[in-house]
Amino acid sequence: MLKLLVVGIGAGNPEHITVQAINALNRADVLFVPLKGESKAELAELRREIIARYVTAPTARIVTFELPVRDAANPSYADGVGDWHDAIARLYVRLIADELGAAGTGAFLVWGDPSLYDSTLRILERVSALGAEFALEVIPGISSLHALTAAHAMTLNRVGEPVLLTTGRRLSEAPLDGDAAVILDGRLAFNGVDGAAYDIFWCAYLGTPDEILIAGRLADVAAEIAAKRAEARARHGWIMDIYLLRRCDGAPLDDNMGPAE
Ligand SMILES: C[S@@+](CC[C@H](N)C(=O)[O-])C[C@H]1O[C@@H](n2cnc3c(N)ncnc32)[C@H](O)[C@@H]1O
Repeated sequence: MLKLLVVGIGAGNPEHITVQAINALNRADVLFVPLKGESKAELAELRREIIARYVTAPTARIVTFELPVRDAANPSYADGVGDWHDAIARLYVRLIADELGAAGTGAFLVWGDPSLYDSTLRILERVSALGAEFALEVIPGISSLHALTAAHAMTLNRVGEPVLLTTGRRLSEAPLDGDAAVILDGRLAFNGVDGAAYDIFWCAYLGTPDEILIAGRLADVAAEIAAKRAEARARHGWIMDIYLLRRCDGAPLDDNMGPAE
């Protein structure tokens, strides 16, 4: 039976890839590499670097493809995403049939971890609904969230405390109450958060030679983050950044050495 491997490749540092992921890539007949437009060529480059460094199987072929673009003009965000995923699913059905035949093994190299704000698994459900039959295997990867906490040498949560995982879009819609990890924020939503009540731990281009780290009281560093972000984005043509907002209201500082709960 045809087999699809969804392989987390880490979020920017080629050394974040796991042994399990390397072994999975070496089982594939075809490695699918999405191209995300000129400005994000560096992202496709990381996938190629990973393949060049770790794939030794002589039969593995790289197949690149252009990802359809989401219609940002659709007034309904959910409908726009749904249509976009349908278009990608139709493309995957074609790619799978053309490149793998009836019994090949294909690998999708997924940025970070496939479970975190990535739609590959959701799209493969649509591929299956379109009639394609395949066995699915998922290999976890180091996510940008965990690369962020490692870069700042900090824990994600405080003792016994929850952490909200959210996006810039959602953060800008409601006041924040507690700690939050924020991903996919093109609108600097931290500017709407009480800068005196929060510390921010921010990072762009995690794990790459261009990594930028800034941490401090939000009120003190928000303008610096905005300026560094704008400058870096203009220079590279794209940016990926992520941050953790932690209330600084006297709640216990991170220390996970306490007794198990
Ligand atoms: C579509 S999500 C994919 C997340 C990915 N699946 C993961 O596990 O990290 C893309 C967002 O992840 C974050 N991200 C991914 N890689 C990053 C990196 N190297 N540096 C900073 N943020 C990153 C950014 O917030 C970016 O907008």
